[in-house]
Amino acid sequence: MKVLIVGGGGREHAIAWKVSQSKRVDKIYACPGNAGIAEIAECVPIGVMEFDKLVAFAKEKEIDLTIIGPDDPLVGGAVDAFEAAGLRVFGPRANAAILEGSKAFSKDLMKKYNIPTAAYENFTDPQAAMEYLKTAKMPIVLKADGLALGKGVLICNTREEAMAGVKEIMLDKHFGNAGNTMVIEEFMTGREVSALIFCDGTDIAPMTSAQDHKRAGDGDTGLNTGGMGTFSPSPFYTKDIENYCIENIYKPTMAAMKAEGREFKGVMFVGLMLTEDGPKVLEYNARFGDPETQVVLPRMKSDIVDVFEACIDGKLKDIDLQFDDGAAVCVVLASAGYPEHYEKGLPISGLDTFKTKDGYYVFHAGTKAGADGTVLTNGGRVLGVVAKGSTLKGARAEAYKATEWISFANKYMRHDIGKAIDAAE
Ligand code: AMP
Ligand code: GLY
Repeated sequence: MKVLIVGGGGREHAIAWKVSQSKRVDKIYACPGNAGIAEIAECVPIGVMEFDKLVAFAKEKEIDLTIIGPDDPLVGGAVDAFEAAGLRVFGPRANAAILEGSKAFSKDLMKKYNIPTAAYENFTDPQAAMEYLKTAKMPIVLKADGLALGKGVLICNTREEAMAGVKEIMLDKHFGNAGNTMVIEEFMTGREVSALIFCDGTDIAPMTSAQDHKRAGDGDTGLNTGGMGTFSPSPFYTKDIENYCIENIYKPTMAAMKAEGREFKGVMFVGLMLTEDGPKVLEYNARFGDPETQVVLPRMKSDIVDVFEACIDGKLKDIDLQFDDGAAVCVVLASAGYPEHYEKGLPISGLDTFKTKDGYYVFHAGTKAGADGTVLTNGGRVLGVVAKGSTLKGARAEAYKATEWISFANKYMRHDIGKAIDAAE
C-alpha cells in the first residue's frame, strides 16, 4: 500500500521509519518531509496547511492511508478535508483536535466529567483576570488558550509577574490570537509523564510512557523549547499509576468526547503531573509527542499500519499493542541559540555511522539536502539521536556516545537528559 505522511520534523521521521518497517507498505510519500525522511520516502514540497494541494496529491497518487503529524493541520481541519474527499486518514477531526486547540475547552471538559486536573478559571477580560489575581495563591500558572508552539504557558511566582503575564498574553498578544482567552490555574508539583494513547473513538490502546525535557538548558534552566530530549519508559509511571490513569483519565476523556459529539480518533497525548494527590492532567495534545515519538516507536513491536487502520475503523479492540521491555533515550542536537536566534544551512557529518549500527537511530528534526548529497541544518532542533538498551541507564550512555558521531558547527545539546532516572532507584 501507499502511505502519505504530512509533516517534516523528528516526529514525522520516526513515524515514517516505523511505517517503513511494515511489510504491507510499498511506497511512502512525505509532505514536505526533510533530508532524513527522504532516505525512506519521496518528499514533496507541499506545506502542512495546504489542504487542497495535499488532498489533490493524495488523490493523484492513489494514497491508501495518510497520517497527519503536527497540531496545526489537525486543529485546522486537515482530517476533515481528507475525509470529505473520501480518503483514508489517521488523526482526529477538527472538532476533536480542539482538545489540544483550546485549553479553555479542555479544562471545561475535565471539570464537567470529573477528570483530575489543576483548579482553574477561564478569562476573556484582562481586567477580570487581574482582579482574580489580586487574591489568588502564588505561584500560579497562566495559559494562552490556543496553539502557541508549546510556549503559551507562564509560571508566575509573584503577583507582579502574574499581572505582567496577563498583559503579555491578553493585551500585548505575545502569542497572537491564542491569547484572546486565558486560563489561570493552580500550580502543581510532581514528576511529569507523557502518555500517548491510540484511540478509535470508543476504545483506547495506551503506548509505553515517556518523559520530555522542555527547557533549553541543563538542570531545567533557560527558555521553554519544543523538547530537548526524552526517555522511555518513565520509571515513576508504575503499573498502578497507569491503571489509575486508564480508569480515571484516558477512558473518561474518550467517553466525554464521544458524549459531546466529538469522537476522538488518533493519538491522544496526555501530559500528566504525578502529584501527591495522584496523577492530574497538565494538558492534552491531539497528536504524537515530539520528541516522545522518537523513543516510543523504536520500542513498539506491533505493525503501526495495522494500528492506524484499527483506529480509523473503530477496531482497536482487535489489536494487541506490544512494546519491548527495554528502554530508549533521545538526545536532541540543536543549533546553539535555539529557541531564539540560531544559524541554519550548516553542513552535518557523521550521519552514515548510524546506518551500520543496530539499536541506534538518528531522526531528523530540522535538516535539508544540500548539494552533492550533503545534509544541512535547517532549524533550531536539528537531529534526535536515539539509542535503545535493556535499561534506561544503558540506553542513556549509548545515546550520549552516539551524539559524538555527529558534527556540525554550533552543535548544542543538554547533558542531563534522563537524569531523573537516577532518582528512581
Ligand atoms: P503545557 O503546555 O500545558 O504542558 O505546559 C507546559 C509546561 O508548563 C508543563 O510541561 C509543565 O512543566 C508546566 N505547567 C503547566 N501547567 C502547570 C501547572 N498547573 N502547574 C505546574 N506546572 C505547570
Ligand atoms: N514534547 C511535547 C510535545 O510534543 O508537545
